[in-house]
Amino acid sequence: MKRILSGIQPTGSLNIGTYLGSVKNFVKLQDKLPDYEFFIFIADLHAITVYKDKQVLRKLIKELAALYIACGLDPERVNLFIQSEVPAHSQMAYLFQCNSYMGELERMTQFKDKARKQEKGVTVGLFSYPTLMAADILIYDPDFVPVGKDQKQHLELTRDIAVRMNNKYNDIFTVPEPLIAEIGAKINSLSNPTAKMSKSDDNEKSRINLLDPENIIKKRIKSAITDSMGTVKYDPENRPGISNLLTIYSVITNMPFNDIEDKYEGKGYKEFKEDLGAIVFQELKPIQERYNELINSKELDLILDKGRDRAIQVTERKLAKTMDRIGLGRKRK
Ligand code: TYM
Repeated sequence: MKRILSGIQPTGSLNIGTYLGSVKNFVKLQDKLPDYEFFIFIADLHAITVYKDKQVLRKLIKELAALYIACGLDPERVNLFIQSEVPAHSQMAYLFQCNSYMGELERMTQFKDKARKQEKGVTVGLFSYPTLMAADILIYDPDFVPVGKDQKQHLELTRDIAVRMNNKYNDIFTVPEPLIAEIGAKINSLSNPTAKMSKSDDNEKSRINLLDPENIIKKRIKSAITDSMGTVKYDPENRPGISNLLTIYSVITNMPFNDIEDKYEGKGYKEFKEDLGAIVFQELKPIQERYNELINSKELDLILDKGRDRAIQVTERKLAKTMDRIGLGRKRK
């Protein structure tokens, strides 16, 4: 059976950037591709590459699990699990660290960005992060990995590691293809529209979280940075602010940019932003309702247990095979 895999770090509350750039696509793919097996996870091991308070981390892990389901992932179709509950990810990551090079990891732009922000030193985990991500992926032999644009470089490294290991150890891994949406693969910050909307941005006005109340959602859209031209036109090079809002509008409503531009011809930002605020809230309202039902339910634990058990089954087998090919331990009978 073909497979699709992806994950999200529980480093902060889920925002509409991550939702539109990844989770919404997982749901679409799950509905469109009934013949694929899906593995979707909470990348909690990645979240400790930079220190996180224990209580906060626990809360964010559970919140993300509930939000995945609330956003429409079907637990009957998707193996949903928590990365740290599947030990083979870390074990495989070590094998990949022995098959990747300092130079290639030093080139990762996300590492460079994050390393610059660390005042108390950069952990080895932050540096080796892409090898863990490669392990998360390759251990499942997925055909496709849906991600946002910022993960493209990590996916390229993952493919390089797969090819390298296949050459050395005789075709162990499937070389996966990234699936990056044409529209919405990079939703930008509402306060700085040339930068990515991020869970870890200190400025709360930069994003809308999935669990934000209606008044905050509308306020954030209203105060989103645009320009002084006052026309609703998609032009990401010259007019990143309004183009970012048009992207959010288009991904949620499925309307092409041209149609949205026509609809707001002769109208200003005020009306467009009011409509967009209502559209975003309409999208998030059912998610919030389902989230509230799920967050303290037994159902959520059962879903995570089931996902974990299936993930362990697949990964233990693949890890044993990989170790055998490398020549570790005793030869398998
Ligand atoms: P993370 O947690 O930063 O983001 C999760 C997913 O959401 C996408 N994304 C966005 N897309 C559009 N606009 C945005 N503003 C935006 N912000 C985030 C990301 O591209 C990503 O697809 N290293 C990964 C998590 C990970 C993973 C994996 C992903 C760990 N192992 C294996 C896929 C496969 C990360 O930090 O994503």
